[in-house]
Amino acid sequence: MNKYSVDNIRKSFIEFFESKNHLAAHSFPLIPKNDNTLLLVNAGMAPLKRYFTGADTPPRTRMVTCQKCVRTGDIENVGHTSRHCTFFEMLGNFSFGDYFKKEAIAWAWEFMTEKMGLDDSRLWVSVYHEDDEAYNIWKDEIKVPEERIVRLGKEDNFWELEVGPSGPCSEIYYDRGEQYDCGDPNCMPGCDCDRYVEVWNLVFTQFNKDEKGEYHPLANPNIDTGMGLERMAAVLQGKENVFEIEPLVSIIKMVEKISGVEYGKDKKTDISVRIITDHARAVTFLIGDGVIPSNEGRGYVLRRLLRRAARHGKLLGIRDNFMTTISKLVVEMFGEAYPELANSADQIYKIIEIEEDRFSKTIDQGIEILNTYTEKMEKDGTTELSGEQAFKLYDTYGFPFELTEEILGEKGLTVSEESFVEFMNKQKENARKARNASAGEAWHGSSFKIENTESTLFKGYTEKETEATILKLYDEEYNEVQSIDGKGFAVTDETVLYAESGGQKGDCGIMAGEGVSAHVEDVTKANNDIFLHHVKVTAGTLKTGDKVKVTYDIRGRNATAANHTATHLLHEALRQVLGSHVNQSGSLVEKERLRFDFSHFEGMTDKEIEEVEKMVNEKIFENLQVTTASMTLEEAKASGITALFDSKYGEKVRVISVEGYSRELCGGTHVKNTSEIGLFKIVSETGIASGIRRIEALTGMDAFDYLNAYRENTLKLASKLKTKPENIENRINQILAESKEKDAVIQNYKSEAVKAELGNILDNYTEEGNVKIFLNNLGESDADQMRELSDRIKDKYSDSVAVLAAESNGKVLLIASVAKPLVKEGLHAGNIIREAAKVVGGGGGGRPDFAQAGGKKPEKIDEALNKALEIIKDMIK
Ligand code: ALA
Repeated sequence: MNKYSVDNIRKSFIEFFESKNHLAAHSFPLIPKNDNTLLLVNAGMAPLKRYFTGADTPPRTRMVTCQKCVRTGDIENVGHTSRHCTFFEMLGNFSFGDYFKKEAIAWAWEFMTEKMGLDDSRLWVSVYHEDDEAYNIWKDEIKVPEERIVRLGKEDNFWELEVGPSGPCSEIYYDRGEQYDCGDPNCMPGCDCDRYVEVWNLVFTQFNKDEKGEYHPLANPNIDTGMGLERMAAVLQGKENVFEIEPLVSIIKMVEKISGVEYGKDKKTDISVRIITDHARAVTFLIGDGVIPSNEGRGYVLRRLLRRAARHGKLLGIRDNFMTTISKLVVEMFGEAYPELANSADQIYKIIEIEEDRFSKTIDQGIEILNTYTEKMEKDGTTELSGEQAFKLYDTYGFPFELTEEILGEKGLTVSEESFVEFMNKQKENARKARNASAGEAWHGSSFKIENTESTLFKGYTEKETEATILKLYDEEYNEVQSIDGKGFAVTDETVLYAESGGQKGDCGIMAGEGVSAHVEDVTKANNDIFLHHVKVTAGTLKTGDKVKVTYDIRGRNATAANHTATHLLHEALRQVLGSHVNQSGSLVEKERLRFDFSHFEGMTDKEIEEVEKMVNEKIFENLQVTTASMTLEEAKASGITALFDSKYGEKVRVISVEGYSRELCGGTHVKNTSEIGLFKIVSETGIASGIRRIEALTGMDAFDYLNAYRENTLKLASKLKTKPENIENRINQILAESKEKDAVIQNYKSEAVKAELGNILDNYTEEGNVKIFLNNLGESDADQMRELSDRIKDKYSDSVAVLAAESNGKVLLIASVAKPLVKEGLHAGNIIREAAKVVGGGGGGRPDFAQAGGKKPEKIDEALNKALEIIKDMIK
């Protein structure tokens, strides 16, 4: 392995910190867990926030990760510079109240100079301007010459997210040499030019910033560091930028191959190549972690990246879909370091394909709409499209602004970019407000923290009841209290009640002590796996220190367990029937029913549903043992279980096995034998997002009741149809045949009636000189019928003028027709109709022999016909 390859730097970094007693964890998924303040994980520390704030206890006080990150804050710059990427890997070592500045600085230096062999005379460091402690460590202990230690202000050397852990930081820079100097005599780290590259940021996390922007000192100061892996590789390999190193260089080559465009030859096409290269990687990783394209939140980020890349493909002249091809290369290159990519490869490609296809259609649709805009502009004689219309195209149809500009340009038209940007900013502002509102809420919810309390001991896998001590009580507003006699929350040292997690709802049960009894209506988890019993005291008063017997509602528990095990059977059956791309993307298990969301790209056929249902029921009837084993995540992975990488590292995981059929990591409660499920019935199969299907199903008595309801309905139908259930189909066929016959008879009568009506019309005219004038209000009709009628009049009488009016959807239709010989005599259908149309508030005109018009006032039809008569009379005179 090349010493400076990203793979090797990643490995060396992890091993280096493992040798310093850090626990290595696999990258957490890009979708933040239990954190609504963040759209996507954008730093190594983000998934560890709760360890920094003390809300949760880390598995070890020192950890090290290589974290997948996505930052889209400056997406507009990506491609235009060779520095910006949306996706990158961040190496980081973390201390949760363990070591601090001294060790963090010393180890960073050791890794850079000794492990990576960087020339220390090229390294510069910056510190927060007030941080003398860090300054002195660099100067006195690491012996960095003072002229290479820079003090910078809050903007550069204070690290924070909108909400969460933050603090002053110290950065390490690499000096790429004088040839990159911007010429400013004060050029040094902090300068925007290309000479000093920041490679590592050491954050001395001392505060927790709340949603109001206030900083609260943390009980223990922490260390959070972040080193951009690609950037470090570029420095070590002596390359100018990240697009010149593997793996990006291979992607660039692939883009060159597909497009036939050579990179490095033209500024404009280089931008497109870089955009595709970066975005393809981000898109692949995002979908790999379960993000689905949509119009909001992280789904929108994904959609935007994918469409931006596809659009730049078009700019490079690529005709067909190409993103999947590039994504395959990404999976090939990263599948080893990130097995989750390889595992969901099929899903990634399918989603990219669907979305790229959709985008092509969007482009077509957008061009059509833009055409209607430009037609109108040409008609109105304007040359500038409004910013509002350009924004509408962009916002509603996903039509890129540059494309609008380009197409308009081809027609010699323009668009106001300024006004477009105004609309865009307005929308961004609205989105930001909405996001902040929900961020605040989420933070408030998660800031309820129970201090000085151990995790609750859960005995409910094996025990039905337990003696517990009430440790803490809270009222309904989460204020800590000493006693409750109504509703509130109780924390005990141990319990048998399951707390909502992993999609399974919390148990209901009873908590009873001397002179006191309470219903437990739900159980949820607070911080640190502390169980919060939602209690309603029914007798006496519940007090802290009370000894209580906790029992669960056995029927509810059994029904929930049946639904949970059935969910596992369903998951496996779906994989067998539909394919291994099926992955769980959400589930809900409660006592009444189960719901299972999974990745699949089209609706299931009736046959597939039947097959899945049958398979699950077979497994129920086979009386299979359900067993639980506890093992480490590594053991589980080694035994071939698709591991969920977001399980807490180092923790033991539970593996639920259905004898010879399914194995899953799961913390839920299950039956002991599949036969306890009794019966399984799928109630619905629907799509909930692009590529995600949802099955709702019932088990046991609920399934039985559901089927019985069907039977009852059938009996009802049979009695209504006056037949036996088995004859319903014959009876319905018979009724349908009869109804068809009746339709034919009705149709016949109708056409007879029309003929009679027509005869009426044809015979009903007034004569003026030797001209036959037909004036008819037809009531409800349409233009085709009217035209046909006017033709018939003309065919029958070569000396006729007809003016017909009708009402259609509240609007007026007018038709005038003049037989050819009369045209020669000066009668003009167009002129007749123009005047008549004015009366009904409309306009129109046409040829001398035929004209039509519309109007808005049906109540004036008769008046309009009178007007027509007047004009015709005038013309005849
Ligand atoms: N959290 C710090 C960063 O992302 C290390 O730069």
